[in-house]
Amino acid sequence: MPRFSRRSFLHVSAAATAAAAFRGLSEPMLAAAARRPHSADAVLIDSNENPIGPCQAARDAMAAILPQGGRYADNLTEELARTFAQIEGLNPDYVHATVGSTPPLALSVLAFTSPKKSFVIADPGYEAGMFAATKNGARVVKVPLTKTYSHDVKAMLSAAPDAGVFYICTPNNPTGTLTPHADIEYLVANKPKDSIVLIDEAYIHLSEAPSALDLVKAGNDVIVLRTFSKVYGMAGLRCGFVIARPDLTEKAMERGGWNFMPVTAVVAATASLKDSQLVPERRRINAGIRQQTFEWLDRNGYSYIPSQSNCFLLDTKRPGQEVRDAMAKENVLIGRVWPSMPTYVRITVGTHDEMERFQAAFQRVMKG
Ligand SMILES: Cc1ncc(COP(=O)(O)O)c(C=O)c1O
Repeated sequence: MPRFSRRSFLHVSAAATAAAAFRGLSEPMLAAAARRPHSADAVLIDSNENPIGPCQAARDAMAAILPQGGRYADNLTEELARTFAQIEGLNPDYVHATVGSTPPLALSVLAFTSPKKSFVIADPGYEAGMFAATKNGARVVKVPLTKTYSHDVKAMLSAAPDAGVFYICTPNNPTGTLTPHADIEYLVANKPKDSIVLIDEAYIHLSEAPSALDLVKAGNDVIVLRTFSKVYGMAGLRCGFVIARPDLTEKAMERGGWNFMPVTAVVAATASLKDSQLVPERRRINAGIRQQTFEWLDRNGYSYIPSQSNCFLLDTKRPGQEVRDAMAKENVLIGRVWPSMPTYVRITVGTHDEMERFQAAFQRVMKG
């Protein structure tokens, strides 16, 4: 596998071309591939990052651990897994820490798909797993979201009796919409015997939706992925979890998922989990700015898909790529376009100031 370098990646113009070169694609890689030239003071609302960054306790914990940076200190990773397991009422053996959720997403797909076992995903959906499946020679089955933009689990089941992996992302990237827990339960209960349900909860804390961890606890063929990149504001620090029965984790990670974690990320993640106010406070901040943005869009007659997350799809009623280009000239970088919804662009919810700059620029672009 070629070594990933940001510089070489940026020379690749299209995500599809990049997919040929890289096994594991991630949101920042996809966003970077689609990114337009911009200056240092640009508004970056194209990668679903959290502008708040790590909480104060996480920053303090990282500063305090630096002198011990010469040690692998695996005990700190064990403490992180134990802390998470205790909060969630899980067996610690079911929790495995990873450098973000990108590696376990790709590795799970590589482990459970094959030329005979397909990968099933909603459309529009987060592309990373799809690229891994294609690399593996697996059939990719895209099933449109329902009218209410949830995963159509019955259609997913009937479209792929040969499924190896059903990928559910809730809230979904790019729509920010939820799939009811009852639908996920139905999928788990009715899936083909040797398949798994891979549930990506990257954005779960930004919504009020229940987690699917109960399905893991009950011993099902379910892998839940979590990341500290979103609500916890640690995208650049790299920490996530695979939460599953140990035999599933073992199989999912056998092609390279075992390694020591960066101690900075680990102590920051543990400190963040112990901050009981972090999730409700940040969920409230994101929801408030999202709501103000929606109200502005309503007042100005623009249509969008209501979201429960830190991103949403905005209908530009013209080719979305043109709007992205025009917005980039305004120094506002907005998210990419999904082929099945070519007039929609994905907008990440930024700070108040960033969303005001977005609104002013969007108005100019649409009226211009
Ligand atoms: C749906 C989804 N899953 C997983 C990830 C992976 O994030 P990370 O590797 O930073 O944990 C992202 C990042 O944006 C995402 O949108």
